[in-house]
Amino acid sequence: MDSFEFNKIAAAILIALLVIKGADLISNHLIEPHMLKENVYKIAGVSASSSGTPTEVAKKGPAPIEPLLAAANVQQGEAVFKKCTSCHTIEKGGPNRIGPNLYGIVGAHKAKHPGYTYSSSMEGKGGDWSLDDLNVYLYSPRDFVPGTKMSFAGIKDDKERADLIAYMMKQSDSPMPLPEVKEAAPEELKKEGP
Ligand code: HEC
Repeated sequence: MDSFEFNKIAAAILIALLVIKGADLISNHLIEPHMLKENVYKIAGVSASSSGTPTEVAKKGPAPIEPLLAAANVQQGEAVFKKCTSCHTIEKGGPNRIGPNLYGIVGAHKAKHPGYTYSSSMEGKGGDWSLDDLNVYLYSPRDFVPGTKMSFAGIKDDKERADLIAYMMKQSDSPMPLPEVKEAAPEELKKEGP
């Protein structure tokens, strides 16, 4: 091969390299890669960025029941109980339906209504239906008693749940008194005043 031929080949290679490099430069310019601030796919326990963990969106639970009961409305609670009447009666001596009769349920042992067959989850729960337990159960039955056969989503509205529980407390031979509105401490009164 003579030197002219060699030069032609060398020039061809050079041009090819230039074209490739040029294309690279142009495409880099057209498509700007940029890194995401956070991983699109989050893997539990792995956080790419320092900000926030996967549990950041904590679940909002029910508000404490006692302060709510102080302001509860029994008549409105009776109306809320309509959500339950497809499965429950609450009058004294009322029949069991899909769920057990609920007369005197507040403060009663769990899963003890005569003649009713509870789920094993409910039977295994144990203890009494304290105000707190009822509050949490009625907020989300399946979270409080996983495996319960009460298919009811729960009442998320704190006021509605408090009205309902206040009504249920009355349906009893010896109703628990509704908690009094606690007398505010003098400092609080001052703060609330005009
Ligand atoms: C779709 C039917 C259904 C609806 C609606 C329903 N329940 Fe129930 N409920 C059940 C069943 C079934 C059980 C028994 C649960 C078990 O054994 O796991 C039960 C159990 C209960 C218990 C426990 C009783 C005990 O003896 O320990 C309470 C308290 C209760 N329900 C309250 C309510 C209230 C209050 C409402 C309305 C806000 C309601 N339920 C709505 C079906 C229902």
